[in-house]
Amino acid sequence: MHGTAIGCAIHETNPMSRSLSARPRSTPRLDLRPFRRRDLEPLITAVGGSMDELARWLPWVHRGYGRADALRFIRDSSAAWVEGRAYDFAIRRPEAPDDHVGNISIWPVSRRERSGEVGYWIRTSDAGTGIATEAATAVLAVGFEEMGLHRVTLRIAVGNTPSERVAEKLGFLREGLLRKEVQVAGDWLDHTLWAMLEEEYSVERQRWVEEGWATG
Ligand SMILES: CC(C)(COP(=O)(O)OP(=O)(O)OC[C@H]1O[C@@H](n2cnc3c(N)ncnc32)[C@H](O)[C@@H]1OP(=O)(O)O)[C@@H](O)C(=O)NCCC(=O)NCCS
Repeated sequence: MHGTAIGCAIHETNPMSRSLSARPRSTPRLDLRPFRRRDLEPLITAVGGSMDELARWLPWVHRGYGRADALRFIRDSSAAWVEGRAYDFAIRRPEAPDDHVGNISIWPVSRRERSGEVGYWIRTSDAGTGIATEAATAVLAVGFEEMGLHRVTLRIAVGNTPSERVAEKLGFLREGLLRKEVQVAGDWLDHTLWAMLEEEYSVERQRWVEEGWATG
């Protein structure tokens, strides 16, 4: 899940030395917290049950995804957090804490420019209920308020309408086209680049609270 791109953390670029608090973050419906070893089985179940949708867009997904892949991800996720390379959050509902809903990550792209990127996936059985949008409000607060970012980007494969819709709902602006940006199942996919700036975040955050996506 790590190390390639899109919908997951890119862990090899510009590590930030300072780390982030591992405390859980919350939204009106969700808890977001770092991964731990016992997330292994719920993670495998969620990926397996979402295979068709995830495999269309994410480079790390493959039909045989299983224990070794999930274990590698959880181990690397813990190391990345401590090293400040990336912050992966397990998305859960407080009423069903052992049920894995999806992943959302934020990682620094450039320390000098104070830029970062967000990636996410939501299990298919929960898609279309606003989970990605709501979870993103929490990691954008992490990015702009805790990491001190100036600019946060999203890269979305052309044709991934649900993800474009998430970007639009949050108030990201589409900046351009990245040709043949990521290889998924042997095909090079064009992506659009979306961004939000810190001054835009301050305005959007208020709207997210009014929409009920973020806690005030
Ligand atoms: C993209 C993804 C994260 C969206 O998560 P989600 O929790 O369903 O997102 P939300 O419910 O917040 O918003 C999805 C929006 O897309 C809309 N949508 C869903 N399917 C759609 C379709 N086929 N065409 C148009 N809109 C669609 C939903 O109606 C919703 O918009 P609305 O609130 O205006 O009705 C999820 O579908 C997913 O994990 N996909 C596979 C992995 C992936 O693509 N990750 C992102 C990589 S950039």
